[in-house]
Amino acid sequence: MDSILINGGKPLKGNIRISGAKNASLPIMAASLLTDQVLELTNLPILSDIDTMEELLAHLGAKVFRIKENNDSLTLKISCDNMNNHQAPYEIVRKMRASIWVLGPLLAKYGKAVVSLPGGCAIGARQVDLHIAVLEAMGASITISEGYIHANSKTRLKACSFLFPGVSVGATINGILAASLADGTTHLSNCAMEPEIKDLCICLVKMGVIIEGIGTNDLKITGQKTLTGAKHNILPDRIEAGTYMIAGAITKGDITISGIDYEIVENVAQKLMQAGVLVTNMGDNIRVKYNGELKSVDMATHPYPGFSTDLQAQFMSLMTLADSSSVITENIFENRFMHVPELCRMGANISVDGNHAVVRGVGNLSGAEVMASDLRASVSLVLAGLAAKGSTKVRRVYHLDRGYQALEQKLSACGADIARIKGDSV
Ligand code: EPZ
Repeated sequence: MDSILINGGKPLKGNIRISGAKNASLPIMAASLLTDQVLELTNLPILSDIDTMEELLAHLGAKVFRIKENNDSLTLKISCDNMNNHQAPYEIVRKMRASIWVLGPLLAKYGKAVVSLPGGCAIGARQVDLHIAVLEAMGASITISEGYIHANSKTRLKACSFLFPGVSVGATINGILAASLADGTTHLSNCAMEPEIKDLCICLVKMGVIIEGIGTNDLKITGQKTLTGAKHNILPDRIEAGTYMIAGAITKGDITISGIDYEIVENVAQKLMQAGVLVTNMGDNIRVKYNGELKSVDMATHPYPGFSTDLQAQFMSLMTLADSSSVITENIFENRFMHVPELCRMGANISVDGNHAVVRGVGNLSGAEVMASDLRASVSLVLAGLAAKGSTKVRRVYHLDRGYQALEQKLSACGADIARIKGDSV
């Protein structure tokens, strides 16, 4: 496995261009299962999770063509006109929970789907009860046996009214995907409102679905008997953007982030400004400049438009160097503080009580060998390493390759001393 070696203490200066959003790409790739025509997707990020979804679609019988691949992005044409398999096996699903998004489309289009239960993962148990409940409300019969979800519907799925008892990005997506081919208008309430879900809805509308309330938590989806192909450009990755905004602040740097709308990272910008960092919306670019101070700020994660759980670890790294104490509350996943012991190995002062972490700012972090445990925890250690004195080695960086395209290249172009050591660790 590869490691990343960082010699910290260099302020980042320069421009970082944001890639397409992983968490929009994956459900939109799954949407290709809803049509016999070609879905052409541009601005896909070059990431291992995209490869995994490609592998899963191909396993199901899809033809996936790589039309263009350069340093910036990937273009795929996906054709699902002759599917011969409705089973998503454990060997693929275990690599990536987003595989569960083939459940709704396969069920809606073919009346059957067998999808491995993804199981828990490092950040929490991550149930699928809401995915199942919304599909059952549309008339599916679902059983679970031998680690697989078996979903069947003898007739076309029927529109329903469904109130999600808790906000779930994944279950909202499966509900929208299934409703797109259901008979009638499905009313989904208390939906997740993440921009990636909005992007999925925009793509589905191009494919012929009628959707009211796009971008809100109340969606009315009028399903169609058949859907067409479409061309869709994936929206930029707000979590990648937020990560680099925090990188600018933690290294006392001055960077611009380009290719992202300010609106979808405004919650991050506001927290950074409360911490005393200058953040300027320059239209196409966002400038993040350290302004001589770093104040401790409390932060709690919430569904969008709240502060994302996917940026909690990175923000915690920043707060380790702030002037007093901050309380960071994780409300989405029950086990998303795995970066804490690793940050403490670098000299951070953090104590955890349930879903709260008290972060007492220290003058400096010091480089250390640390272990990545999940995607966002991994990148929080990279950020800490960029700010730390001395050298930091982050092990098990395959997690990073799931969500950060060309991380070392983007950071070294801004002056970071960072390199990948291939095949270094176990
Ligand atoms: C998506 O995961 C994202 N994954 C996650 O990003 C992100 O952290 C999360 O949404 C929250 O924003 C992708 O987009 C691929 P949820 P998802 O369903 O859909 C509970 C990253 O780093 N729940 O909104 O799995 C669940 O246990 C990843 O890029 C149920 O109880 O998240 C959790 O506590 C990590 N029953 C909460 O809801 C269910 O049926 C939110 O989960 C479904 C979820």
